[in-house]
Amino acid sequence: MKRILVIGASGFVGPYLCQNLIDNGYDVFGSKLINQKQNFEGQCVNLNILDEDDVFKVLSDIKPDYIIHLAAQSSVKLSWENPTLTFNINVMGIVNIFEALRKLNLKPRILIVGSSEEYGKVDKNLIDENCETDPLNFYALSKVTQEKIALIYHKNYGFDVICARSFNHIGPGQSTQFVVADFAKQIVEIEKTSQQGNIYVGNLSAKRDFSDVRDIVNAYRLLIEKGRSGELYNVGSGNCIAISEILNKLISYSNAKINIVVDKNKFRPVDTPEIKANINKLKKDTDFKAKHNIDETLMGVLKYFRNKADEE
Ligand code: GDD
Repeated sequence: MKRILVIGASGFVGPYLCQNLIDNGYDVFGSKLINQKQNFEGQCVNLNILDEDDVFKVLSDIKPDYIIHLAAQSSVKLSWENPTLTFNINVMGIVNIFEALRKLNLKPRILIVGSSEEYGKVDKNLIDENCETDPLNFYALSKVTQEKIALIYHKNYGFDVICARSFNHIGPGQSTQFVVADFAKQIVEIEKTSQQGNIYVGNLSAKRDFSDVRDIVNAYRLLIEKGRSGELYNVGSGNCIAISEILNKLISYSNAKINIVVDKNKFRPVDTPEIKANINKLKKDTDFKAKHNIDETLMGVLKYFRNKADEE
């Protein structure tokens, strides 16, 4: 049985990824921070990627055949507020992992998870992997740097590295730092109180390529199985939708009377206007096919917050 370590398994994506890997016959280890609860299936290890000794010990104990590196400061918004934290986790974390592997003489196949934010503003309708990167915020810059570091280890030390550039992904369990969870939670709060109220929103004109998190983790598994070493892969849907449309869809699934209030505090210093993936390379190399549509996913997120509110 192939042994796989998911680094940063206790976030939003990790539990979906661990389940997908278990369902597909892997021996799964997931890492979490010591103070976090285990919320994923598989064997659990405590790991702080900023602690070099900790990284060394965990990798020498597990000796994985594969690693999928999810641990990240993943919020663009938070990266404006805390660039230091963002660079520490997203940049130093990957250096610590490669240095430990190098010293241990271990060569697992590694999937590095980057972001569509790395592209910045692109003058092309569809973004493919050959587009220049032009990071417009600290999160994006940290992900470009993470990827470049991984590729230096690939080229100079022969590590088997694949780099994903993931577009927006959503589903039950995501933090309300992100737009769909933020809107859905507010809608459910209105439903549970007076059945009418204000929803506070930021920039509705931005357009993003949204996928169901279950499709994204399936693409990660396919990439670790079939991706070509040293290559970059867009992971997304190939469809683009305005945040205003997402909002209208969510409101239309509710019986509450909702008044939209644009809150300037929710705007960012710079917001990439439109992001849409060309995923031909992913499809060609891995036979990836998305299984979930946006309406089903949005309804799932609303249902998650309604159930949570019922439990409280
Ligand atoms: N969070 C939030 N809250 N975003 C809002 C709101 C709001 O009330 N109103 C409008 N937006 C807009 C943001 O300005 C942005 O243009 C868009 O909704 C999506 O914001 P987020 O959900 O916070 O995601 P993101 O695009 O900044 O980043 C996500 O996607 C990246 C891939 O494209 C994250 O998941 C990143 O980790 C990921 O790499």
